[in-house]
Amino acid sequence: MKIAILGGTGPEGSGLGIRWAAAGHKVIIGSRLAEKGEGVAAELKAILPGGEISGSDNLTAASQSEIVVLAVPYSAQKPTLEGLGTALKGKILVTVVAPTQKPKARVWRLPSGLSAAEEAQQQLGDSVRVVSAFQNIGAHNLKDLDYVADFDVLVCGDKRDDKQVVTRLVEDAGFRAVNAGALQNSSVVEGLTSVLIGINIRHKVKDAGIRITGI
Ligand SMILES: NC(=O)c1ccc[n+]([C@@H]2O[C@H](COP(=O)([O-])OP(=O)(O)OC[C@H]3O[C@@H](n4cnc5c(N)ncnc54)[C@H](OP(=O)(O)O)[C@@H]3O)[C@@H](O)[C@H]2O)c1
Repeated sequence: MKIAILGGTGPEGSGLGIRWAAAGHKVIIGSRLAEKGEGVAAELKAILPGGEISGSDNLTAASQSEIVVLAVPYSAQKPTLEGLGTALKGKILVTVVAPTQKPKARVWRLPSGLSAAEEAQQQLGDSVRVVSAFQNIGAHNLKDLDYVADFDVLVCGDKRDDKQVVTRLVEDAGFRAVNAGALQNSSVVEGLTSVLIGINIRHKVKDAGIRITGI
């Protein structure tokens, strides 16, 4: 697939991007600045010379791709999606956004009472299908393609077929996906990110994760 990653210049988006490129997908690293996207794409290609990775501005990336991943901080979610409605029409938007509040990434209830994923869905309307995933995996090891993950990726969305598409992307990134129900459930998954950040701090580690047992 051709995958655009909005904010793919950050550690989470670029780490997923290189994994998808290693699995044979075409990846476009999106940025507010085309040159920045191109620069990060070049860095990733240096790690994975055969990978089909390019960079551009977010709008071009979204327009040219079949599936789009939102990998910007929560504070940048709304402005990043503004103006992308036409480019995203008819597509799946995979959001990895987990709202955290600096300096302490404590569990933070959004004023809307919704998850960040639902807010994105509300903003974009029904012509875009939002699926939430990857909030609970740290960026720390993503660029190490030999890293064997000891965690699951929870996938939330309202359409089973869309979650199946995202499940394949999770697997192509090298992880196990678990269907975690409706998009509404993303608020729980997003909140777990803050829990994991706290566990990382208390245990002086960087990659605490979630594993679903009994299935
Ligand atoms: N890092 C992790 O371990 C991790 C783990 C799980 C989930 N997440 C989630 O994944 C998302 C990305 O995480 P990250 O650590 O990669 O984030 P980041 O490095 O802080 O930001 C990613 C990219 O977003 C763009 N951006 C930053 N501030 C912006 C602003 N004010 N307006 C518009 N664009 C802005 C930047 O791209 P340009 O400057 O190129 O436009 C930046 O490179 C976040 O929502 C985070 O909650 C992260």
